[in-house]
Amino acid sequence: MRPAISWNFLYCLLLCTFTVYSSEVGVCSTDGMSIQGGKYSLSNGLNVGSELLYHCPDGYYPYPNPMHRCAGPNRWSPKLREQGSECRVVTCPDPSELRNGMVSPVLSIYVVGNHTTYECFDGYTFYGSASRVCQSNGKWSGDTPICDYGSGHCRDPGIPPGAKRNGNLLDIGDRVTYECSLGLMLLGSKERTCLEDGHWSGTEPSCYKKHYYDTPEEVSKYFSTSLENRLAISGLDDNMDGQQVQKSIQMRQGGKLHIYIALDTSGSIGQKNFTLAKECVQALINQISFFEITPKYEILGFASEVTEIVDIFSPASHSDEVLKNLNDFTYGKSKGMGSNLSKALKKILEKMSVFKERKELQDTHQVILVFTDGKTNMGGSAEPIVIQIRDLMKKIHGEQNWQEYLDIYFFGVGADINEQEINKLVSKKNSEKHFYKLRTDRELTYVFKMIIDESNSVGLCGLSWDHGKDDFTATKRQKYPWVVKISAMVGNEWKYCMGALVSPRFVLTAAHCFKENQTDEIRVSIFGQEDIKLEWDQVIIHPEYDVYKKKDKGVDEFYDYDVAILNLKSDITISKENRPICIPCTVSSIRAAGLHSSTTCKAQEEFLLDKNLVPASFMSEKKRNMVEKEVKIKLKDMRESCIKDALKAENGTIKNYIEAVTENFLCTGGIQPKVEHVACKGDSGGALYLTNQKRRIQVGVISWGVADLCKGDKHPQTSTEISRDYHINLFRMQKFLKDHLGEKNFVTDYEPLKFVD
Ligand SMILES: *[C@@H]1O[C@H](CO)[C@@H](O)[C@H](O)[C@H]1NC(C)=O
Ligand SMILES: *[C@@H]1O[C@H](CO)[C@@H](O)[C@H](O)[C@H]1NC(C)=O
Ligand SMILES: *[C@@H]1O[C@H](CO)[C@@H](O)[C@H](O)[C@H]1NC(C)=O
Ligand SMILES: *[C@@H]1O[C@H](CO)[C@@H](O)[C@H](O)[C@H]1NC(C)=O
Ligand SMILES: *[C@@H]1O[C@H](CO)[C@@H](O)[C@H](O)[C@H]1NC(C)=O
Repeated sequence: MRPAISWNFLYCLLLCTFTVYSSEVGVCSTDGMSIQGGKYSLSNGLNVGSELLYHCPDGYYPYPNPMHRCAGPNRWSPKLREQGSECRVVTCPDPSELRNGMVSPVLSIYVVGNHTTYECFDGYTFYGSASRVCQSNGKWSGDTPICDYGSGHCRDPGIPPGAKRNGNLLDIGDRVTYECSLGLMLLGSKERTCLEDGHWSGTEPSCYKKHYYDTPEEVSKYFSTSLENRLAISGLDDNMDGQQVQKSIQMRQGGKLHIYIALDTSGSIGQKNFTLAKECVQALINQISFFEITPKYEILGFASEVTEIVDIFSPASHSDEVLKNLNDFTYGKSKGMGSNLSKALKKILEKMSVFKERKELQDTHQVILVFTDGKTNMGGSAEPIVIQIRDLMKKIHGEQNWQEYLDIYFFGVGADINEQEINKLVSKKNSEKHFYKLRTDRELTYVFKMIIDESNSVGLCGLSWDHGKDDFTATKRQKYPWVVKISAMVGNEWKYCMGALVSPRFVLTAAHCFKENQTDEIRVSIFGQEDIKLEWDQVIIHPEYDVYKKKDKGVDEFYDYDVAILNLKSDITISKENRPICIPCTVSSIRAAGLHSSTTCKAQEEFLLDKNLVPASFMSEKKRNMVEKEVKIKLKDMRESCIKDALKAENGTIKNYIEAVTENFLCTGGIQPKVEHVACKGDSGGALYLTNQKRRIQVGVISWGVADLCKGDKHPQTSTEISRDYHINLFRMQKFLKDHLGEKNFVTDYEPLKFVD
């Protein structure tokens, strides 16, 4: 195993494993092995094949080489210096080239912590970052500064630090080329062309020294944005034929996205039974499952030979099975040294060719993800194979469009990777990055765990920062980010209720939490942050809500239409902690349910509430903490006995249960077939929700119950035979929701929810 050491203590505390050997006996000599200002580690003592890795504190890098391999008796490769190695301070590439503007200060060398500022000459508009700082990973913070006159078809593409640019013309078809100063390597596009759409082709180049790395934060941000662009586009396919139902099934099972994952098993990424690879792939699949699309996966391990872990042609190429297969896969002996990336890519090309024969590539996006921590060109350059893959895509999608359908990403880990070779293989797209270089395996897994937070997917409803039962890094708030607490003065006392964020501006709750026409004495806060009051504008009670409507029909208190919408003064900032839950019949919730976007409201209801017993959950408060409670919604054959128990309501207010529990209610609770949880008084107004593919869809608002079993603090309260809870079915409140949350709502500067019919 190659040890993973990072001096970046932030991650070290959580993630690092140290393997430092002091004195060893073996075939390689320890002469010149020391490093001034740093440490070293050996993967296998002084034996042949062992790797000597140097580690420097943050902001320093090992000079002259970060890694040496024991290649034979007393033969380190590359050779060790007699006087040993040293940790040198990281420098950033020269940032002082700015056309039509000024840079200060101009220094001969810029080291970690140095700042620069940028300004344009009169008449030029500034784009990018006006001040930048040289970071400990050898990169400048922010974006390339640009001074643009506005006269070209494309904006001036700028000059990244360390680069020289040829070409000044900015009209369609004009080209610029870049070169890096001596000692720096160019990653990204060496040449860019001004395109008709006003963008430059390819991706912005950057000039780096060998010792630069991307931080996990950067990688996560860039990768999630790029991936999301793919997923959002793939999910928006409207060209399918056939019936509605068929469409939704296709959407759930068909997959318009093929994802090929190649794991380098010659290094540590693949070792230890794929633990790290599993973590990454699992987090990735988890993230993708938040989207409307269900891709097909192929997973390969590659060293000098290629091992197929998941076959894209097997029925098990969908997410759940993929994880299972990967889990069951155990890593055998590494077959020889080095890795043959060409072989892995060739396998992928073969699979694509079969899909092509079957005419299944037309509207399918191809994503290739390669994870490597070694020299990937042991089997010769992989470029010819990548060219064949591109040619295949060109044949299908044409010269103009093929790039939209293919994304090749590389995650390179450690000091041993060949950046320039990888740069030739990855996709190059405007404002996106496809090649990421990380310091350690652990940082790589951290990237994947962080992705959801960075991604624009915050705008999607029903998401949460929750990587499953074993994830203890997420707080309760991050797992249940929609829960709001409401208190209102009714009569002479404060009444407590729950609510759910259904958009950044609106909270959905129960009407009975308020008194009639209440305009003050209402407090709204995020659950867990009760001391921060959210400012609100208006409480909108369902117009048909009327507690006394059926007094003459044997129902003393009637709770039909027990829903209210609270309009916040401004949008709440969406974050890991605060996100809306999905509500039915919105485009977003339909996608969250895995259905095609042309699905109707009725079809979504039939899809979600199609069984006698539908598992659902709601949040309850226990000693100021949130507890998730589990129930089954009783439908069809199970419904009658559930609603009938309304007759047994405490305080005997109901003589006619059919009148009291109308079709607008969902019923939960009781002990058949299993004992369920029961709602407590303060839970009213909260969301009754279903979980589909890790997304939460609210189907009900908790309204009232037969018995109050929550006195004392025996939590979580379980149901008795007759303790039933009744919830307003949101599928029956569509007009109200649409009127206030949809496009016709009265609020300004608010992005309405999109409802389907
Ligand atoms: C650049 O950073 C070095 C090291 O911290 C410092 O000594 C030097 O003064 C800085 N130069 C400028 C111009 O800020
Ligand atoms: C991998 O898993 C197998 C079977 O579960 C086990 O026997 C083996 O020791 C594991 N290897 C490592 C390196 O953990
Ligand atoms: C690597 O794989 C390619 C493609 O299968 C093959 O032609 C080549 O011989 C392999 N190289 C080595 C060193 O095994
Ligand atoms: C609430 O407002 C409605 C409409 O403005 C009015 O008819 C009703 O009398 C009010 N109720 C109370 C209790 O003030
Ligand atoms: C019945 O009345 C008692 C006393 O007012 C109250 O504590 C209890 O919560 C009521 N039960 C229900 C289900 O409303």
